[in-house]
Amino acid sequence: MEIDVLTLFPEMFAPVLATSIVKIAQEKHLASFRLVNIRDFTGDRHRTVDDRPFGGGPGMVMKPEPVFDAVEHTEALSETPATRVLLTPQGERLTQALAKEFADEPRLLLICGHYEGFDERIRLGLKPREVSIGDYVLTGGELPAMVLIDAVVRLIPGVLGAEDSLSEESFSKGLLEYPHYTRPRAYRGMDVPEVLLSGNHEEIRRWREQEAKKRTDERRGLEN
Ligand code: 6GU
Repeated sequence: MEIDVLTLFPEMFAPVLATSIVKIAQEKHLASFRLVNIRDFTGDRHRTVDDRPFGGGPGMVMKPEPVFDAVEHTEALSETPATRVLLTPQGERLTQALAKEFADEPRLLLICGHYEGFDERIRLGLKPREVSIGDYVLTGGELPAMVLIDAVVRLIPGVLGAEDSLSEESFSKGLLEYPHYTRPRAYRGMDVPEVLLSGNHEEIRRWREQEAKKRTDERRGLEN
């Protein structure tokens, strides 16, 4: 998968792209990244990317021209058609289902905004998917883009080893995960549940399912 990131702060991405699963995905040639600085697509002396809103009001708005120019320049770097994604608190919520959908795409082009918002013509003209990572306010789309990258890249076939099974983890059955234990068997007065030491795989499977359901009900209630 090709992933292009358009941002005013490309340096924020370096440590995430150089760490853990996202790094391994690149080493396996299953994901490749291009970081593009939207500010490089300004024409004025001050390299202006934002301006005051028409109609007044607080805050600044991302100007359309540098974003359009950055998108068009970046898309021309490869023949692969890109799914455009705008990171915005007004977007569709990122879920495991949406991450799976994106993991099937050959190319994502992520557009990160800063300031109060984007000039509406960015939405109208570029027709991106719009994605939010949850109902809280962040300063920009960079952290959400990194969250999306992490959630998507680990779902690309071949990125995780066979033993990092995706089928048992949170949300794959619409449930939160069951409790995990490792050694030691007793720690600070807390013992590993007997059933996990029993060697009875059917009983272990039933216990885990029951614990996952209990946890989901307690912590998510009617959502699930
Ligand atoms: Cl995608 N952007 C910003 N600025 N804040 C957010 C968000 C996105 N998702 C949740 N909060």
